[in-house]
Formats: sequence, C-alpha cells, structure tokens
Amino acid sequence: MQTRPFGSTTRAVPLIGQGTWMIEGAERAAAIAALRTGLDLGMTHIDTAEMYGSGASEEIVAEAIAGRRDEVFLVSKVLPENASRTGVRAACERSLGRLKTDRLDGYLLHWRGGHPLAETIAAFDELQRAGKILSWGVSNFDVADLEEAQRIADGRIACNQVLYHLGERAIEHAVIPWCERHGVAVVGYSPFGQSRFPSPRTAGGRVLAEIAAVHGATARQVALAFLTRRPPVFVIPKASSAGHTADNAGAGDLGLSPDDIARIDAAFPRGPRPRSLPML
Ligand SMILES: NC(=O)c1ccc[n+]([C@@H]2O[C@H](COP(=O)([O-])OP(=O)(O)OC[C@H]3O[C@@H](n4cnc5c(N)ncnc54)[C@H](OP(=O)(O)O)[C@@H]3O)[C@@H](O)[C@H]2O)c1
Repeated sequence: MQTRPFGSTTRAVPLIGQGTWMIEGAERAAAIAALRTGLDLGMTHIDTAEMYGSGASEEIVAEAIAGRRDEVFLVSKVLPENASRTGVRAACERSLGRLKTDRLDGYLLHWRGGHPLAETIAAFDELQRAGKILSWGVSNFDVADLEEAQRIADGRIACNQVLYHLGERAIEHAVIPWCERHGVAVVGYSPFGQSRFPSPRTAGGRVLAEIAAVHGATARQVALAFLTRRPPVFVIPKASSAGHTADNAGAGDLGLSPDDIARIDAAFPRGPRPRSLPML
C-alpha cells in the first residue's frame, strides 16, 4: 500500500483509506472484520463522524481498532451545529469517548454552518494544544471557503474532504489545484459514487474493465488508482465486507500508464467548471 505525506502533517498516510458512513447498517461482526482486514492490508486511514449513525459508526470503529490504535490515522468530524468554540470541545470529547481513544489524528468540520469559522478554528487549535487532536481540517469546502480558512489559519489546514468519483470530477477544476499549491491534502469521499459505480455494460464501464484486464486488476481498483493519480489526493471507500475491503486495498499499488489515464479521462469527462462545490 503506497503512502504519501498527509497535507500539513508529517504523517505518511495510505492512498486508500476506509470510510464508515452507514457501516452500522451492516452485520456488526462483518463490518468490524472488514475494517480490521483493511488495517492488515495497510488501509490505516479510518474516516468516521459524529453524524454517522448518531455515533454508532464511531462505536464500531472503536471495536475495530481496539488494541491497534497506534496503527491508525483516525479521523472524525464535528457537525456544523456543534462547531462553536465550546461546542467543538464537547463534541470532540463525546467522539473520543465513543471511539475509546485519547486522541484523533484528524478532526474535521463536516461542512460549513452558522458558526464563524474563526471560532471553530480557535477551538481546533485549543484541542490541538491539549493533544486531543493531532491535526484538523475541513470538508465540503470550495475555494472561497478555503481562502477564508487560510486567512485565519495559514498553513494549519491538514485536509479538505470532498466528493470525488468518476462521475463527479468538479474538484479537479479549482479545489485540487488550490490544495496542491497550499499543501492541503484532498480526501475524496464517495469514490465509487456510492451505489452508482459504472456497470460493465456501459461504455465507461467497458473502458475500466479493459484497463483492469491489462493490469490483472478490478474495475474498482482502476477507478481508485485514477482518482489518486495526483499528489495531494487520498480516497476513503467504504466497504462492509472483508472481500470488498481487500479489493479496494489492491488499488494502493496499482500504477496506471499515461495512456490508461487518458482513456479514463475521455470516458468520464470532468465536465464544466462548477459555480460551487456540490454538497451531500
Ligand atoms: N465529508 C462528507 O460530507 C462525506 C460524505 C459522504 C461520505 N463521506 C465519507 O466517505 C466514505 C465513502 O463514501 P460512501 O460511503 O458515500 O460511498 P462509496 O465509498 O463511494 O461507496 C460505498 C458503496 O460501495 C460498495 N463497495 C465498496 N467496495 C466495494 C467493492 N470492492 N466491490 C463492490 N462494492 C463495493 C459498498 O458496499 P458494501 O458496504 O456492501 O461493502 C457501498 O455500497 C463514507 O463512508 C464516509 O466515511 C464523507
């Protein structure tokens, strides 16, 4: 599993991590086994949030990482309504309790809400000084939001977690270049488009299958390798079975040729520059 430096942190983080949204909907033992298989295969970046299953996802992650905390780059997110100076601290303590750990490797503002960014960032800085979080970042930020955050916290934004899959490449226009210039990691979420991964019966799906066959890989591995082709980008596919996790981990060592990349680019065009970033 390839790793690269994660934004402003000095940590080597795997290109392919593990998402956990709606993992609580899967059979619990299978979900925990899937996450632990991911750790065995080097997918040590685990992404969760207080929002996911109202804390149930964090509790599953706690079971999966029990006894293995030091291997994990553990990220959780605070809801915008909790992102006041005192609210962030309280939310973080609740997440730490559910995750049964004393620290997060990354703590993100899930999306922008009503609380002033300066207040949220002051709270993140306080948590960082107290050793409760090792870095902080943002999510669903477009370039205007990033500029504002950067004015408050020059050089301290570890990452921006944003929607990114073959059918939704809008961040390639401005968000990825901005993050690249400012040393901010880009974490692509929903890298399979949730349940909308291209079927092999579509023209795009056939391109993925052909490239996969050449590399002895799978279409999903090809998609993940394409998404992580640029230096600041990481992805966090969610899987609730060990088989799916192992498939996804296989992308971590798959190198695509310039010709492969050009073919995927043509099959899944990035489309026009959006006026603002789509939000979930
Ligand atoms: N910051 C944000 O606002 C935000 C928003 C959305 C998501 N996220 C994060 O990003 C993570 C990933 O996004 P996502 O969960 O929305 O969608 P996703 O990762 O694009 O897709 C998940 C779906 O793909 C399936 N899958 C995974 N690996 C597979 C494989 N190898 N073969 C076949 N099917 C496979 C999963 O099935 P099984 O579950 O059956 O394995 C699940 O149905 C989330 O879990 C969450 O941590 C963040």
